[in-house]
Amino acid sequence: MLSASLDVDVRRARIADAPALAEIFGESWRATYRGVIPHNHLENMIRRRGTARWRSSIRAGELVLLIEYEGKNVGYATCGTARSRGAHKGEIYEIYLLPDYQGVGFGEYLFEACRCRLDERRLKGLIVWALAENTGAANFYWQLGGRPLVSSYERIGGVRLEKIAFTWD
Ligand SMILES: CC(C)(COP(=O)(O)OP(=O)(O)OC[C@H]1O[C@@H](n2cnc3c(N)ncnc32)[C@H](O)[C@@H]1OP(=O)(O)O)[C@@H](O)C(=O)NCCC(=O)NCCS
Repeated sequence: MLSASLDVDVRRARIADAPALAEIFGESWRATYRGVIPHNHLENMIRRRGTARWRSSIRAGELVLLIEYEGKNVGYATCGTARSRGAHKGEIYEIYLLPDYQGVGFGEYLFEACRCRLDERRLKGLIVWALAENTGAANFYWQLGGRPLVSSYERIGGVRLEKIAFTWD
C-alpha cells in the first residue's frame, strides 16, 4: 500500500500522452518478455504499438489509464469489457510499469483505479490474462486476491506459450 503522502495520480490518457505511452510500452515489454517472446516478434509488437497506434486508441475512446509519480508517467493500464464471454464482465487487458518503478505499490494503485473504472461501468467480476512464465505478474495477481480460473495456449512469434486467466468475483 502506497503512503498517502506520495505524489501519485492515475488519470485517463489524452492524445498528447501517446508518445509517453509508446515509450513505456517499449521499455516495459522489453524488460518483461525478453527471453520469453522471440526477439524479432517482440520488436515487431513494440513497433506496432508506437505513438500512432496509441493516438488512435485514445481517439477511439479506449480506456487507457496513466499513472504519474511526481509528474512523470511511470506506467499504464488498459481495461474494459471482457473479451471472453463468461461470468467476469470486466477485463484489465494490460498493466505495465517502467522497470524502475515496479515493486513499490504503483501496480496495486493502478489496478485499483482500473477496478473503480470498471465498477463505474457496472462491469461485475474481473478477468486478467498473464503468461504462465510471467511469475511476477502471477504473484502480483494472487497477492491482490485473483485466483487462476483456466489456462490455454497461444502461439506468439512461433512459440507456444501458456497463459493463465486470473479472476475476481
Ligand atoms: C505486475 C506489476 C504491474 C505489479 O506492479 P508492482 O508495482 O510491481 O506491484 P506492487 O508493488 O503494487 O505489489 C502489490 C502486491 O503484489 C506483490 N507482488 C508484486 N510483484 C510481485 C512479485 N514479482 N513477486 C511476488 N509478489 C509480488 C507485492 O509484494 C504486493 O503485495 P503486498 O501488498 O502483500 O506487499 C509490475 O511489476 C509490472 O509492471 N511488471 C512488468 C509487467 C507485467 O508483468 N505486467 C503484467 C502483465 S500480465
